Amino acid sequence: MIKIAAVFGSPRRKGNTSTLLNHAIAGASDAGAQITKIVLRDLKMSPCLEIYGCKKAGRCVIKDDYGDIEELFQRIDGLMLASPIFFYTVSAHTKILMDRCNSLWVKKYWIDKRPFGRKNYPRKGLFISVGSTNGKRLFDGALLSVKYFMDALDMELWKPLLFRGIETEGQIADAPGSLEAAYDAGKALVQTLADGYRPDGDQPLPDDLQ
Ligand SMILES: Cc1cc2nc3c(=O)[nH]c(=O)nc-3n(C[C@H](O)[C@H](O)[C@H](O)COP(=O)(O)O)c2cc1C
Repeated sequence: MIKIAAVFGSPRRKGNTSTLLNHAIAGASDAGAQITKIVLRDLKMSPCLEIYGCKKAGRCVIKDDYGDIEELFQRIDGLMLASPIFFYTVSAHTKILMDRCNSLWVKKYWIDKRPFGRKNYPRKGLFISVGSTNGKRLFDGALLSVKYFMDALDMELWKPLLFRGIETEGQIADAPGSLEAAYDAGKALVQTLADGYRPDGDQPLPDDLQ
């Protein structure tokens, strides 16, 4: 069975990204995946303290809720990460998780000595985001962060699902086709993982982020 972690990165429990992620979870679940939900705002998680205990231990040495996530992230086939855009990048909750996953980066590149620049990742990630403005470069910062965060997890940023001009809680439901797109993306992620990789051209990364 395909195992997926679904990370809720917004402080708003019923916010726009949470709504989208719930639809993606429904799609993934209908495709037969086993889903573990992680609501970051409910966890006790320190930011990375840059003490590099992970270099010796092969895992993060800070004792808090990240321990279970670190263990889970080594077992999943795919990830669905949902974060609003806050100041042109991901939310603080999401960024704390990303930085803590540097323990997985250290394990991958320093301990296991895996070569840089891999292209065919075995694992795939869906990134869901919304922002209130409409600028062309609204998602550039977050996409770069997410791409390299997923690389630490030995995972490809398979598909970004992005919506502009969405601000108030619940507003995403008024964006035509958005909830269906999230459901379809969740389902397609699981099907892609089950079938082996099939490129998805719906929302390609901007050229300078490839
Ligand atoms: C602290 C903070 C920073 C934000 N920064 C941006 C921003 O840089 N660009 C933007 O378009 N929207 C920004 N927004 C608006 C949110 O991205 C928008 O309201 C979004 O719909 C929230 O998603 P959520 O309901 O999933 O939390 C910001 C909101 C907050 C609270």
